[in-house]
Amino acid sequence: MINHISLDEVDSTNSYLKQRRAVLPDGTLVTAGLQTAGRGRRGHDWAADRGMLPFSLLLKNPPHPETVTLCAAVAVCNALEALLPEEKFGIKWPNDIILQGYKLCGILCESVCFGESMDIICGIGVNLTQNADFFRKANIPHGASLEMLTGYSADRVKLAEDIAQRLYEYSREGFACVSEEYVKRCLTIGKKIRIIENGGEREAFADGIAPNGFLICSDENGRFEVNSGEVSVRGLMDYI
Ligand code: BTN
Repeated sequence: MINHISLDEVDSTNSYLKQRRAVLPDGTLVTAGLQTAGRGRRGHDWAADRGMLPFSLLLKNPPHPETVTLCAAVAVCNALEALLPEEKFGIKWPNDIILQGYKLCGILCESVCFGESMDIICGIGVNLTQNADFFRKANIPHGASLEMLTGYSADRVKLAEDIAQRLYEYSREGFACVSEEYVKRCLTIGKKIRIIENGGEREAFADGIAPNGFLICSDENGRFEVNSGEVSVRGLMDYI
C-alpha cells in the first residue's frame, strides 16, 4: 500500500509532498536522511542532524482530517513500543511523543484544500540517534533521542514504514478506533495546565479528549474545550 520515496537530503519532507501531492498517490511516504529546513508547529523551525528521522505521509481526502494528528501520535507510540515493550511512550496533547520526560518526536499535520476536498500531509520527526550535545547546541532542553534514553538504535526505513502503515489504517478508520489508546497514553489528562492563547495565559484542569480531538478542560467557570490549532498547553511547572 505504501509508496515509499527515499531521499538523501531535502529541505522539508512536508514541503516536498505539498509541492508534488497532485501527482503522487494516496499513501505516499517520503523519508530523508537529512532535512535542512524542517518546520515545526506554530511557525517554529525543527532543528535536525542526520540522527533525526524525518518523514511525511500523504493522505488524500481522508475521511476524518481533523483527527489525523492524534492518530499519528498513537501510530508512533505503538510502533516504538513494538520495538521497546518495556518503555512507556506517552503523549503530551495534542501530539508530542514523550519518553522518560523528554520530547522524542514531533508531528506537524498540514492541509491543502481544493474545492470540497482536502489532502493532509502528516510530517513526523523522530529523534533517533542525536547526542546530548545536539540538543544543548540547538537549545532544546526538553528534547532527547531514542538512543540517548534507551541505547536502542532503530532501523530508519522499517520504523518509518511501520508508523506510516499504522497511521494510514487509523486515519481511514478514524480517531474512535484509537481514542481509548490515546487517552491511556495522554500525559496531559488529569493535570493542571496553562492554556496559552493570543499572548495571554490561563490555568485550567485537563479532563479528557473530545471525539473531535479537542482537549476538554474545566476551571472555576465550568467546562470548555480547546482546539490545538488555537492554543498551546503546558504543565503548570514545566513543559509536560
Ligand atoms: C513540532 O513542532 O513538534 C512538530 C515537528 C515536526 C517535524 C517534522 S520532521 C518531518 C516533517 N517535515 C517538516 O518540515 N516537519 C515535519
